[in-house]
Amino acid sequence: MSRDDIRGAYRHFLGREPESDEVVERHLKTVTDLHSVRARFLSAPEFYQTNARELLRYFSTWEARRNDGSIDYDCSTAELDRLFAHIKDVWSRLGKVEPHFSVLSTQNFKPENLGSNIEVFLKSGKGEVDLLQAELMGHGLKTTGYSHCVELGCGVGRVTRFLAEMSDRITGFDISAPHLKLASEYLTAEGVQNASLELIKDPASAEFPPCDLFYSRLVLQHNPPPVMFFLLRKFLRALVSGGIAVFQLPTFIDGYTFKVDTYLDGMDKLDNQELHALPQKAVFAAIADAGCDVVSTYRDNSLSKITQVSNRFVVMKR
Ligand SMILES: C[S@@+](CC[C@H](N)C(=O)[O-])C[C@H]1O[C@@H](n2cnc3c(N)ncnc32)[C@H](O)[C@@H]1O
Repeated sequence: MSRDDIRGAYRHFLGREPESDEVVERHLKTVTDLHSVRARFLSAPEFYQTNARELLRYFSTWEARRNDGSIDYDCSTAELDRLFAHIKDVWSRLGKVEPHFSVLSTQNFKPENLGSNIEVFLKSGKGEVDLLQAELMGHGLKTTGYSHCVELGCGVGRVTRFLAEMSDRITGFDISAPHLKLASEYLTAEGVQNASLELIKDPASAEFPPCDLFYSRLVLQHNPPPVMFFLLRKFLRALVSGGIAVFQLPTFIDGYTFKVDTYLDGMDKLDNQELHALPQKAVFAAIADAGCDVVSTYRDNSLSKITQVSNRFVVMKR
């Protein structure tokens, strides 16, 4: 890459000249090819500030025109049992063969690469809790001193380890025993003494204790909409008055539809992570029904495609 390539990137991406020759030299030391130049400029906060109008126009016109499609999110008790049993089988298998990769799916966390990357994996849990605390602080809410935190889908304890510092007690729930075993070993090794772990075996065992902080990310999205809806209603009801729930789930996937019968007929052929969406109107209905208010909701970056919308919700029980 040449100095002119860097100067061109400034003009095209940021609409200005570089501030100095030194800045150009600094970029040149880091970039290797056109791909890395693009990645560098496209991830600069200044790129978003400069191009906000164009970016936001795309998002708002696309979102306004989107077609939510037909999504069943209610089903019978017997159907719910079958859906849970399927999710349990899939995730228990993933927990045996590639637990860390199943949590954060980048090649670095495949079993054969984990040895040299485990520190990065574990550190990411701290980053996630730092963000949660900044978010709570922004809403004028406390960041520590909760009495009971519940985490749904705690996996191998990546986030649980740091959530534990925010509350007197924490209970992590997961549908996969192999994930929970690793979580237990990690929490013990880290000297975390206020955590309990619970296996969700079926819908009946998804009983959450009263809590004043609830957290779940990268979990509901892997469950068919009736399971998401069921769990959402359950955990919102577990919040005590003034309690806060922070959770993420996809609310729209372009072209996605869900029919319970059709899914149950083909379910046995699915043996890996699935991606599902629950329409926003169902989430808002569950929030209202549980006597909670929305503190904030926004599109987050849990999904990587522009045509898939993941929302993060912060809600408070009245
Ligand atoms: C992608 S991992 C994320 C783990 C953890 N939230 C994290 O970010 O480190 C998804 C986890 O959710 C669990 N899970 C999936 N569906 C679940 C359900 N219905 N109830 C409880 N746990 C579930 C899986 O077993 C797995 O441990």
